Amino acid sequence: MKFNIMTLFPDMIKQGLGSSIIGKAQEKNLIEIDTINIRDYAYNKHKQVDDYPYGGGAGMVMQPEPIYEAYKSITSKLSNKPRVIYLTPQGKTFNQEMAMELSKEEELIFLCGHYEGIDERVIDMIVTDEVSIGDYILTGGELAVMVMIDAISRLIPDVLSNGVSATTESFDDNLLEYPQYTRPAVFMDKKVPDILLSGHHKNIDQWRREQSLIRTYNKRPDLLEKAELSEKDKKILDK
Ligand code: ADE
Repeated sequence: MKFNIMTLFPDMIKQGLGSSIIGKAQEKNLIEIDTINIRDYAYNKHKQVDDYPYGGGAGMVMQPEPIYEAYKSITSKLSNKPRVIYLTPQGKTFNQEMAMELSKEEELIFLCGHYEGIDERVIDMIVTDEVSIGDYILTGGELAVMVMIDAISRLIPDVLSNGVSATTESFDDNLLEYPQYTRPAVFMDKKVPDILLSGHHKNIDQWRREQSLIRTYNKRPDLLEKAELSEKDKKILDK
């Protein structure tokens, strides 16, 4: 999977995604992250990329030309046009289902805005998807794109290398993950649940399912409406 990111702050992205699992995934060529500095495509000698809004008002607006040229620099070499995702609080809210859908693409382009926004004409011309990472306003799209790339990349085969697949975890089936424990078996008088030490895998699986259901009921009851529940699951929740 190749991610192309149009941004005014490429260093922020390179630093943010350069280490840990996503850094390793790049080293192993499982994913490629290319940043395109919009300022490199500025039209004027001062390398200015924003201007005052027509009609007045506070703040500055990113101009269309540098963004369009940055976009062309990516797509002119490609026969297929990748989707272009504009990070904006006005977009559809990002979630696990969207991460899963996007992880199937071969190449994606992200557009990070700054200032008061981007000239609407270039958005109309190049953007295919508008995505928000939540109902709050960030100073720019860079943190949002890092969140998306992290969530998408871990779904790509072999990115998570420790034998744990990206399934059986929170939001799979719209249920939260069961609690986890490791050694020591007793920590400050608190014991690990006996069943986990029993070696009975069937009972352990059943206990974990129950814990998932109870946790989801207590912490995120909204998810249960979308979860696929068996008759047995429903009985547990009725208790
Ligand atoms: N840019 C500013 N705020 C944002 C948000 N919540 N999600 C995505 N991009 C943004």
